[in-house]
Parts: sequence; C-alpha cells; structure tokens
Amino acid sequence: MKILVIGSGGREHALAWRIAQSPRVSRVLVSPGNGGTAAQDGMINVPGHTVADWLRIARDENVHLTVVGPEAPLAEGVVDAFRAAGLRIFGPTRAAAQLEGSKDFAKQFMLRHGIPTARSATFDNAAAAHACIEREGAPVVIKADGLAAGKGVVVATTTAEAHQAVDDMLGGSLGGAGHRVLIEQFLSGEEASFIVMVDGQHVLALASSQDHKRLLDGDQGPNTGGMGAYSPAPVVTPAMHGRIMREIILPTVAGMAAEGVSYTGFLYAGVMIDPDGHPQTLEFNCRMGDPETQPIMMRLKSDFTVLLDHAVAGTLDQVEAEWDRRCAVGVVMAAHGYPGTPRRGDAISGLDEKAADVEVFHAGTALADGRVVTAGGRVLCVTALADNVRQARQRAYERAERIHFEGRQMRSDIGWRALAHPRG
Ligand code: AMP
Ligand code: GLY
Repeated sequence: MKILVIGSGGREHALAWRIAQSPRVSRVLVSPGNGGTAAQDGMINVPGHTVADWLRIARDENVHLTVVGPEAPLAEGVVDAFRAAGLRIFGPTRAAAQLEGSKDFAKQFMLRHGIPTARSATFDNAAAAHACIEREGAPVVIKADGLAAGKGVVVATTTAEAHQAVDDMLGGSLGGAGHRVLIEQFLSGEEASFIVMVDGQHVLALASSQDHKRLLDGDQGPNTGGMGAYSPAPVVTPAMHGRIMREIILPTVAGMAAEGVSYTGFLYAGVMIDPDGHPQTLEFNCRMGDPETQPIMMRLKSDFTVLLDHAVAGTLDQVEAEWDRRCAVGVVMAAHGYPGTPRRGDAISGLDEKAADVEVFHAGTALADGRVVTAGGRVLCVTALADNVRQARQRAYERAERIHFEGRQMRSDIGWRALAHPRG
C-alpha cells in the first residue's frame, strides 16, 4: 500500500523513513518532499503545495492513508477536505487545529478546563499592552496570537525588550499573526516535549523528548525552530509522565470532545516543569515537533502504519507502541544566515557514507543537477542511537563532522541538559 506524507522538512523525512520500513508499505509519497526524500529507497517526491494537489495525489495514487507533517495545511483545513472526500487522513480538523493556530484560543480553553498554564492577558491595543508590561515587570513573555513559524515568542528579560516586542508585533512585523498579543507570566524550570497520538477519544503517548530552541551553545542566541533534540527526556520520569497525562493531555482531549471539536492527530504539549515539580503547559502544537520527530522515530520499534491505522479508526486503545530502550540524539546542521534569511544553493558533501545506528535526515535540501544543495534554514538533522546520551551524541557528531557545506551552523552541546540530569 501507499502512504502520503505531506511536508518537506526533517520531521517529514523521519516519518517517511519509519513508514517505509513497514512490510505493508510499497511506497511512501512525500509531497513536496526534499533532497533526501527524493533519493531514498521506498520514497518518492510528488510536487504539491495546496489541499487540491494533495487530494488529487491521494485519489490518483490510491493512497491508503495520509499523514500531515506541518501546521499550515491543517490550519487550511486539509483534514476536513480529505474527510469530506472519504479519504483517510491523520491530523486535526481546522477547528481543532486552533489549539495551535491561536494562542488566545488555547489559553481560554485551558482556563475553561483547569489545565495548568502560565497566567496571561490578550491585547490588540498597544497602550493597554504597554501598561500591562509595566505592571508585570520583567522577565515577561510576549506571544503573537497566530501562527508565526516559530518567531512568535519573545522571552523578554527587560521591560524595554518587552515593549519593543509588543510594538513590533502589533506594528505588523509578523503580519496578521501578531495583530493580537499575549503577555504571559515568565515560568522557570525545565522544558520537555510531550507528544501523543489522539483518535478523538483515546491517547497513545509517544516517547518523551526535548529540543534545543536557541541557535548557540549553552542555549544562548536567538530562538530557532530547534537546533537539536533527544529522546527520552530524563526530566519526564514515569511519575511526571503520569501527571502530564492526567493534568494536561487527557483533560485536553476530553475538553475538546465536550466542546464538540473532537481532536484527532498528533498533539504536542510543550511543558515546563517548574522548580516545585509541577508541569505547566507552555503551548500546544497540532503536529509532531521538528526536530523531536527525528529521535522519536529512530526509537520507535512498532510498525508505525499499524498505529496510524488504529488512530484513524478510533481504536488507539487497542495498541501499544514499542520503543528502543536506547537514547537517540539529533543534531541539526543549519544554513548560513539561519534563523534570519538562510542562504540557498550551497553544495553539501559527505552525505554518502553510512554508519550503523545513524540516520542523516534531510530538511532544507534540494537536488540541483544531481547534487544535493542547501534550500532552507535547517538543512539536515544527523540522528544517532546508542546506549546512553553521551554515546548517542558522540556518534551523531562524528557523522555530522564529515558533512560539509559553506556557512554550516551546528551547536556542539546538544543533549547537555540530559547529561546534567541525574537520570541522564
Ligand atoms: P512556545 O512557542 O509557546 O513554546 O514558546 C517558545 C519558547 O519560548 C518555549 O519553548 C519556551 O522556551 C519559551 N517560553 C514560552 N512561554 C514561556 C513562559 N511563559 N515562560 C518562560 N518561557 C516561555
Ligand atoms: N521543535 C519545536 C517545534 O516543533 O515546535
């Protein structure tokens, strides 16, 4: 059978890679895909950029099931359109995807259902927002209400920075996404990414993970989409796993169903575990994380297509996911200029080597005259499995060091929090 994966990033390469290993799958179609999904066994890229394109591909190719990687097609209603056409797809409807698409919607939803999250207020008026910052003081967090491709959050360490962020966002720096802003209480603690599959009613938790959002070593520099990730996250102990399920995930799924917007798809809760050990919800994403997906898929041992079939059929309570007990670490190699304006077209060398338990997932790459070149901000995510974080990280960096392109940016400390953790 054929599976369609919508998207073109490292997350989609990792999803397609795991799906392609299923004995049930003849071919994974990736639309539009990247330079890695174009060239790998069992996968093929199919041009496509709109819901109409993907509907046509799914019909013409007799696709068994479609998996959506990024948030934008979900917000455009790709799931609603597929369902209306009687096609099988895993993801949230446009209405359910508001949990990610509007931070104000998510905040109000969490308040209604008693889900722990930071205190915040929403403004579309600059004077009122500035007055709120004066009352709150710094540090304080400014968030654009809408989808802003990872650029919508400013953790301001001074009130001057906070005022500036409000002026920028309300002034249109993020387009419509920033026409409303949330001013949110700053939470300290340690973050984890908690990602689950939801079938409307039942929940299947995936392995825990943690990413590194800042560009530079020591978690310094500007925020990015994520410069590396690892799984599992030692901060998510079995007891913490239970609390996050009980206090955040299950009330969210039940609350959405109770409000008549039943949630299906991947649900990603960004969680801050505060110094007292209480999990707080930082955000919801209606998709898997990138780069968290890459280490998570390396560790998944079950046939992913079986899990996806159950998710679409509403029978996730009948399956369990089996995980490799080892750790996976993924190191992102980014293009010159990222996270600002990445340079495209730099030739990438060193991709052909193979190493055991290491995968080089492509993201912003393209094929040009038979050569792989950079074509986006995050270019590759080199992901390795090993018995512990230290070894997995070493294995990933050894492989990454043999891959070159002009202006390559890569952190050298992915996984440091896990190594510092007593359970790391
Ligand atoms: P978000 O897109 O909401 O996850 O925000 C991006 C990043 O900003 C998070 O991963 C956190 O590192 C940080 N962040 C968001 N909200 C808060 C908060 N209330 N307190 C401290 N840091 C935050
Ligand atoms: N790595 C964070 C995200 O995918 O949102």
